[in-house]
Amino acid sequence: HIERVTGREIIDSRGNPTVEAEVLLAGGTRGRGAAPSGASTGEFEALELRDGDKSRFGGKGVAKAVGNIGTAIQDALHGMDATDIYGVDRAMINADGSRDKSSLGANAILAVSIACARAAAAALHLPLYRFLGGINGNRLPVPMMNILNGGAHASNTVDVQEFMIMPAGAGSFHEGLRWCTEVFHALAALLKSKGLATAVGDEGGFAPDLASDEEAIRYILEAVHKAGYEPGKDFVLAIDAAASEWKSGKTGEYVLPKCGKRFTSAELTAHWKNLCSQYPVYSIEDGLDEEDWEGWQLMTKELGGRVQLVGDDLFVTNTERLAKGIQLGCGNSILIKLNQIGSVSETLEAIKLAHKAGYTAISSHRSGETEDTTIADLAVALNTCQIKAGAPSRSERAAKYNQLLRIEEELGSAAVYPGFSAFGIAGM
Ligand code: PGA
Ligand code: ZN
Repeated sequence: HIERVTGREIIDSRGNPTVEAEVLLAGGTRGRGAAPSGASTGEFEALELRDGDKSRFGGKGVAKAVGNIGTAIQDALHGMDATDIYGVDRAMINADGSRDKSSLGANAILAVSIACARAAAAALHLPLYRFLGGINGNRLPVPMMNILNGGAHASNTVDVQEFMIMPAGAGSFHEGLRWCTEVFHALAALLKSKGLATAVGDEGGFAPDLASDEEAIRYILEAVHKAGYEPGKDFVLAIDAAASEWKSGKTGEYVLPKCGKRFTSAELTAHWKNLCSQYPVYSIEDGLDEEDWEGWQLMTKELGGRVQLVGDDLFVTNTERLAKGIQLGCGNSILIKLNQIGSVSETLEAIKLAHKAGYTAISSHRSGETEDTTIADLAVALNTCQIKAGAPSRSERAAKYNQLLRIEEELGSAAVYPGFSAFGIAGM
């Protein structure tokens, strides 16, 4: 049972403070977990509790959240069975009492939830993916590797937040990962040869100044070729527009903050449709705003049969919002971020609901990350078949891919790499 729960303030990959928790079980077994942090956060995410005290970390301190771990959370969990993750999370949700975990902080609750799962797995002598997924978890995810950054993640001229490569044609996870790194290096050389910047953004992708989406895509496809691979066969592309960042409250139009272009919801859908017909773009995340349900319905009718339409800010890993989207026919995929909902068990439920409805689910990092690799184990445990963990150029991103290499090795001949079937959409 749970003996002691403690928290500490650590720093994330952007140099901002975040919450780390440790759980000590009566037999001496320990578990540790850390909360990541987003930049383009969805309006409907669980609340990340920050101190607001300008004299520390520019107001971003998490001392209150950490304090809640040693007091209210410790009191709620003391003596509980750590292997009962659903019970542990429920106890914290009850102790918090709010709808969005704003009393104790979703950062505090999530860090403890992960630490508990890790302590329980260790007590049972199981790897985390086995503890969370049982004997079913055996599929390695296809990386959705973000190699060109824009939007809120970079100070360049690119409005689309992420351009990702997916090695869907590889024969295994480790082969796909190698292919991605080769394309990453080919892209670096290509950008350099054009006199463009090769400094990287928050998720490790390059962040050059470019004139349009098409230009970014053309450079990436050229890099795929230069590395010796064939677009559409070895690699496909994915985009995260993060279009909730573009919606103008006043006019209801989408106004791209960097280039200044304006779109209606229907025009933006037409723009995505055009991109997908010209280039091997298989997945578009947050192509429209988080409150544009009608737009999402239309976009799904137009594109959903052949493109993966991922709700990130739209669904925020929340089963209520996902159920609404399923009912309305919005999107066909959900991005899964533990800290959007704030606990492990609620995250598992979001993935299960998605799969039941025939939606794909994608295990995802945040733009502010730590060395915590839970999302890698989560991807294998629940067979999400896709993972978003950034470029292979920053250790907090590489940590997730390296954990997947270890899991693949451990699974041995039982490991499955889904390749194109990761999309699970009829006809794709
Ligand atoms: P965030 O970005 O972590 O800054 O929210 C990631 C994403 O939008 O997928
Ligand atoms: Zn996103």
